[in-house]
Amino acid sequence: MQYMDYTDLIDDEPVLQRTARTRTRKSKQPTLFSKTESGSDVHETEQDDPLQPFLDEGWIKGVLHVVKSGKEATVYCCEASASTGVELLAAKVYRSRNNRGFKNDAIYQEGRLVLDTHERRAVKKKSRVGRTIQAGEWINHEWETLRALHAAGAAVPRPYAQRGDALLMEYVGDRDGAGAPLYRLSIDRHKARGLFEFAMAQVELWLTHNRVHADLSPYNVLVAQGRLVFIDFPQAVDPRSNSNALALLERDIANMCRYWEQYGVRADAHRISRTMWGRYIRGGM
Ligand SMILES: Nc1ncnc2c1ncn2[C@@H]1O[C@H](COP(=O)(O)OP(=O)(O)O)[C@@H](O)[C@H]1O
Ligand SMILES: [Mg+2]
Repeated sequence: MQYMDYTDLIDDEPVLQRTARTRTRKSKQPTLFSKTESGSDVHETEQDDPLQPFLDEGWIKGVLHVVKSGKEATVYCCEASASTGVELLAAKVYRSRNNRGFKNDAIYQEGRLVLDTHERRAVKKKSRVGRTIQAGEWINHEWETLRALHAAGAAVPRPYAQRGDALLMEYVGDRDGAGAPLYRLSIDRHKARGLFEFAMAQVELWLTHNRVHADLSPYNVLVAQGRLVFIDFPQAVDPRSNSNALALLERDIANMCRYWEQYGVRADAHRISRTMWGRYIRGGM
């Protein structure tokens, strides 16, 4: 079996900021993990391609390129099958095997982990099974959160499918490039207040549906065709079962206020989060 080497496509910068490179495969299906020189990652290289189910089930026709290799996952731009009605789809593949960069922090997991004793022990021991269970927890959670929020009309990528360590969703952007994260952009000052208010309305909409993003930052807000799209929800928390939700909400809102301040938006993060929380608690939203 031949392994495609994706490593030269992986960079901290989104690929489309450089010259986009397209790989087409005729006889072989894409395989995301390349052989290491030492051969020490033999288990990794022998794993099935995490995107294979999407090819087999007819969601995608192929993988075009890496959009971004982030802390916890690599995101690929895929050519969508005609039956999906869209041209491109984004596939997010979690790093289940080495588990690098996963947020293991208990504050996000409170009220969420429903594991049996054996599974809990495997997670605690960080065994291979344990790491896989844990990665699965994060990706399942992101899938469920995207489904709930998209159904509620939130500005999040539409989720299409989740198989194993991979999640297939709407591609934010077009053939000319992926949507850029807020932190890379220069925003027109006249539009800043409106965009900030839109972001706050989104945070409140998520809260109405019992979700706090918990990692909201200019890195996880993309801009495409002048619209904001919010991404990266694996660590989202439910205020009904997580006692850290208010603190995380405040942090999310403070991150947004700090970003928009440079464009002249003056906002009191503490006051906004308390007001929002008050409305949520009273069920008056
Ligand atoms: N649906 C998408 N469409 C286009 N680009 C995306 C999409 N989802 C993620 N990306 C890109 O991939 C990067 C990493 O994805 P993200 O979900 O934020 O994972 P991480 O946990 O690695 O930060 C994002 O910063 C963004 O540039
Ligand atoms: Mg991110």
